[in-house]
Amino acid sequence: MEEKIGQLTRDCGEEIAAAGSENALYAVRVKYLGKSGLISDLMKGMKDLAPEQRPVMGKLVNDARGTLEALFAAKGKELHDAELAARLAAEKIDITAGEDKLTGKLHPLNAVRRRLVDFFVSMGFDVMDGPEVETDYYNFEALNVPKDHPARDMQDTFFLGGNLLLRSQTSASQVRYMEDHKPPLKMISPGRVFRNDDDATHSPVFHQLEGLVVDKGITMCDLKGILDSFAKHFFGKDTKVRFRPSYFPFTEPSVEVDVSCSMCHGKGCKICKGTGWIEILGAGIVNRKVLRICGIDPDEYTGFAFGFGIDRIANIIHSIPHIKLLYENDIRFLEQF
Ligand code: DAH
Repeated sequence: MEEKIGQLTRDCGEEIAAAGSENALYAVRVKYLGKSGLISDLMKGMKDLAPEQRPVMGKLVNDARGTLEALFAAKGKELHDAELAARLAAEKIDITAGEDKLTGKLHPLNAVRRRLVDFFVSMGFDVMDGPEVETDYYNFEALNVPKDHPARDMQDTFFLGGNLLLRSQTSASQVRYMEDHKPPLKMISPGRVFRNDDDATHSPVFHQLEGLVVDKGITMCDLKGILDSFAKHFFGKDTKVRFRPSYFPFTEPSVEVDVSCSMCHGKGCKICKGTGWIEILGAGIVNRKVLRICGIDPDEYTGFAFGFGIDRIANIIHSIPHIKLLYENDIRFLEQF
C-alpha cells in the first residue's frame, strides 16, 4: 500500500504539472482528492490492513494529501494569475488610440480682445459696442473729416449707398459715446471694422479698439502714462514707448505710437524690420472741433483718444507673420494657441 500511495502521489504530481487551465486542474483534483477519488479509494482499502498498520498508513495517506493540496494550491495560483493576465491583455482598451478629439477654445483674436478689454476695464474704462453699419456722420463728419477731406483716402471705405457705410474705424464710437455721456468719461470700444484693403498685412475685415478719456486738465502726459502701462502689460516690463508726430483729423496734436521690439529688445530684427520699434497705434489730444460737435465745451474739458488694430496686437504677441492666418480658420493654425 505504501508503494501505491507513493505512485499515486507521483502520478497526481505529474498531472498537476501538466494541467493547462484551471478547469483541467479541477478535473485532476476531483480525480485524486474528490469524494470518490483515488485517495478515497485508497482509504477504503484501509479496513483490510492489520490494525497496527492502519495508523501508519493513515498518516502516509494524510501526508500525501497534504503534499498534493500544496501542489494544487501552488498550481492553482499560477494558472489563475496567468489566465487573469491573458484576459486583461485581451480585454485591454487603449484609450489613447482612436481619433484625437479636438477641444474647443477661444480664437486667438477673441482671446487677445478679452485680455485687452480686461486691462482697460481694470483701469476704470467703460466698454461700448457700436454699430458695424455706420452713417457717414459718425464715421467721418463728426470726427472732423468732411466729405471733401483728403484724409478720407487713408481709409478705403465700403460705401453702402445713401448715408451708410461699413465703419472703417471704431473711432465712430467716440462720437456716439460723447453724445450720450457727459465728462468725466473713460471708454473703450472694441469691434470689427472694414476697409477695401487686401495684402499680407491688411484684411478687408479686421478689428480695432478705440479708447477715449475726457476730463478737466487731461494732457498728453495722461495718454503717455496709460499707453506706457498698456505696452508694459502686453509686450513685457522693459518695453519702451515712443511718440512720433503724425496727423489725424480728430486729434490735435496727433501722434503715432511705437513700442520697442520685444523680440530683439531694440537691436533690430525681422519682426521690427530692423528698426527696433514696432508701430502699434494712432492717438492724440481730441480735436476741439470734435468735442464741440459732441456738445462738450473744449475750454472746460480736454481729452485724449487712441485706436489700434487688435489683429496687429495679436500678431505681435504670437509672432504671426500674416494677418490672413487669423481668418482662414485652418485648424492646424488655430490649435497652436
Ligand atoms: N482711427 C484711426 C485709424 O483707424 C486710429 C486712431 C488714431 C484712433 C488716432 C484715434 C486717434 O482715436 O486719436 O487709423
